[in-house]
Amino acid sequence: EMSAEERAFQEKIDAEIKIEAKNWMPEAYRRTLIRQISQHAHSEIVGMLPEGNWVTRAPTFKRKLQLMAKIQDEAGHGLYLYSAMETLGADRDDEIERLHRGEVKYSSIFNYPTLNWADMGTIGWLVDGAAIVNQVALQRTSYGPYSRAMIRICKEESFHQRQGYEILLTMMREGTDEQKAMVQDSINRFWWPSLMMFGPHDSDSPHTGQSMAWKIKRHTNDELRQRFIDQTIPQLEFLGCTVPDPDLKWNEARGHYDFGEIQWEEFYQVLKGNGPCNRERLRTRKNALDEGAWVREAAMVYAKKQQQKQQQ
Ligand code: 3HC
Repeated sequence: EMSAEERAFQEKIDAEIKIEAKNWMPEAYRRTLIRQISQHAHSEIVGMLPEGNWVTRAPTFKRKLQLMAKIQDEAGHGLYLYSAMETLGADRDDEIERLHRGEVKYSSIFNYPTLNWADMGTIGWLVDGAAIVNQVALQRTSYGPYSRAMIRICKEESFHQRQGYEILLTMMREGTDEQKAMVQDSINRFWWPSLMMFGPHDSDSPHTGQSMAWKIKRHTNDELRQRFIDQTIPQLEFLGCTVPDPDLKWNEARGHYDFGEIQWEEFYQVLKGNGPCNRERLRTRKNALDEGAWVREAAMVYAKKQQQKQQQ
């Protein structure tokens, strides 16, 4: 039985009125938003690592600049999202500590290695492509600060996807047979992990029901996954490549592509910390936090001095 406050809250949600930080909200709404937004922010920051691996080895200066710009965007997206999370009363340092203790998640996709330059194209095209499908939907999320962060982030994401696809198109059109094989191998390695980014099937998702009722989510995991596949296969065909799924085929009756079963055992292993790069990613993030401590301390001392000057 809902309390008067909960009923008023749900009526605002149903009326598409954005919930703001100062508004009353159910404790569980606050907690699931801190859970999702913090993990989204962690994903942006950890997501910089696979690409960072290739900045010094980009094939041309132009590609290096594009990759650096994309990585810097991701750092900014992480900061927007940590700020949106803080409006709910969560502490940034605490949440980052929880990440480093392995208590909270970041997107499974970043636990796969980037073995060659084609992976930079595939990450831009498939990983950012999947993230865009998810984030475009999240622009309409019921929590105001999260929705506004998404609107800003989506403006920058489309360049990430286009530069990734352009890398692959260049390799497929002008590359040697070996480079074309590199593209196909990269797609083979990243196709299924990209589908896993959308989360478990709706029937296995503990949060989707409540998140849909509160309009935190506007579409379910399976709906967004299907949307991603439907828009990506024509791009794949234009590249002249395939995906490692013999069951993938257009279903005229459904108006969607049918596809094979996802290896959920692999998904849950990666979530448990047993993916190819989980330990390396967390170790790198911990080192970065320790090595960057002096910068934060210097900035705090400087800020305090500025405040004292203003008070004199
Ligand atoms: N990787 C890691 N954990 C995942 C996951 C994935 N791909 N998919 C689901 N999970 C976790 C959930 O976090 C949840 O665990 P928790 O209770 O400990 O948080 C559990 O698996 C059950 O999944 P649910 O579907 O029930 O959970 P959600 O309702 O939270 O849905 C989600 C999962 C679709 C990822 C949702 O949280 C979401 O939309 N998050 C915001 C988007 C996001 O995080 N995107 C990351 C992509 S990378 C990115 O954006 C960076 C870009 O620049 C590339």
